[in-house]
Amino acid sequence: MELHERIFELALNRSFFLPSNEPYGAISGFYDYGPVGKLMKSRIENAWRQAFIRDEGFHEVETSIITPEIVLQASGHAANFADPVVECRVCKTRIRGDTLIEEKLKEKSGEMHGAKWDGKLDTIDTMIREEGIVCRKCGGELGHASMFNLMFKTGIGGEMATAFARPETAQGIFTAFTRLFRNHGAKLPLGVAQIGKSFRNEISPRKGLVRMREFTQMELEFFFDPAEQGFLGFESVADHKMRFQINGEMSEKTASQSVSEGIASNQIMAYFLAKEWQFYKRIGIKEDDMYFRVLPKQEVPHYSKGNIDMEVQISYGDIETIGNAYRTDFDLSAHSKFSKKDFSVFIESRKERIIPHVFEVSFGVDRPFFCILEHCFREKDSKDGTGNWKLGTGKEWEWFDFPPLIAPYQVAVFPLMKKDGLAEKAQELCKMLRTEFDVLYQEGGSIGKRYARADEIGCPYALTVDYDTLKDSTVTIRYRNDGKQERIKIEECVARITQNIEKGRVTL
Ligand code: GAP
Repeated sequence: MELHERIFELALNRSFFLPSNEPYGAISGFYDYGPVGKLMKSRIENAWRQAFIRDEGFHEVETSIITPEIVLQASGHAANFADPVVECRVCKTRIRGDTLIEEKLKEKSGEMHGAKWDGKLDTIDTMIREEGIVCRKCGGELGHASMFNLMFKTGIGGEMATAFARPETAQGIFTAFTRLFRNHGAKLPLGVAQIGKSFRNEISPRKGLVRMREFTQMELEFFFDPAEQGFLGFESVADHKMRFQINGEMSEKTASQSVSEGIASNQIMAYFLAKEWQFYKRIGIKEDDMYFRVLPKQEVPHYSKGNIDMEVQISYGDIETIGNAYRTDFDLSAHSKFSKKDFSVFIESRKERIIPHVFEVSFGVDRPFFCILEHCFREKDSKDGTGNWKLGTGKEWEWFDFPPLIAPYQVAVFPLMKKDGLAEKAQELCKMLRTEFDVLYQEGGSIGKRYARADEIGCPYALTVDYDTLKDSTVTIRYRNDGKQERIKIEECVARITQNIEKGRVTL
């Protein structure tokens, strides 16, 4: 069984996520988060909010999902936001043409990742004929490739004015820009971010949370004066090392080198790349399994002058989890033209009006969520012939080694027994802790089994209320990774857990 299949099973059984509308046949590309997954997803979003909004003094907005057609005509999505599709002449199944080609090339070269499609529909048609590619589902003949727009269409009001569910959260930020600029200092640079749902009618989504039709993005639009390509505070990340893949070659560069060697468009881009690298490490992505891919020209989206994607290696292959784009003045100029409103701002020092440039950081939430599940998954341990633990963890159950920062429940509370007032005491402790943390509370079953259940959803600390608690108001705190325990006073619990989370401590 491949790792992603295993994770999918665990996700279903441990309430991380599940297919939406399951009793009605679960249409692919839609997933619900269960109670455990929802806690973890919110924690990832909050960690991002802290790092990319609060720490930087930026602003967060929440804009409409339903977007009038003209906005998406201006942004170019109405004309360009499309994937190639081929239809089976027999069973009418629609398949992504570029995926077919990439899979075929991968099969031929024997490499893990197929070469990328060159963007031409003719190439797909030729390849289908020359390689004899047929429908995956029924083996039928495939028709000609055509472009398929990925936006979900809807109508507004009785007149059903054409509108779409937004394909990215960014456009709402651009259309609100002039008012936001005026109300928040009327100075560049200005950072505006949004966390919310985006929608893409993916042709044949097959990889669970990796390709969804409704998914969450965390996007930051950084508006700046193109004459000022430096970034205040860049020195703090100048020596940070990251890995870049350029034309298939991997190399390690510092943030400074990425600017001087022209890999990053400017200091602004390099600053955010370094932040992303650190952020990913903090939320549990393995450093060895991530890298930035510098996109070749033919892959750069219609709105961008240069793109660098974060890619993460998981059992599905290498997947893009963050897009970084130098969007220049593309969007603001386009909205200015289509709305006939002035999107320019006045630069006091030069006494001139300009259209700001934009650097965009575009994170998905669901893809890194899945990557974390894979990267933090730990196998069961067992004993060898001499009675020693093979892995050294001593855990006879599959568990998750989540960083405490994003663990679904930060702490578990267990009474040793239900009787003799222990459950009441534990509930009291639980109530106190719930003002600060998400707490897992369980009374039934042996204490060993309850520790195992907490490990299985990656809970880093477990507090046990026992008979000594009734005498001296102390509890044991058990650390997830080594299973070791110490005794602490109840009044110290909040401070201790808070410090542990901050330090990422998972052993005694
Ligand atoms: N505003 C720019 C933009 O949307 P993108 O590269 O198309 O750029 C950014 O998307 C991120 O959104 C991706 O790196 C990925 O994490 C997430 N994303 C995009 N399409 C997705 C899908 N179908 N399912 C899940 N996540 C997706």
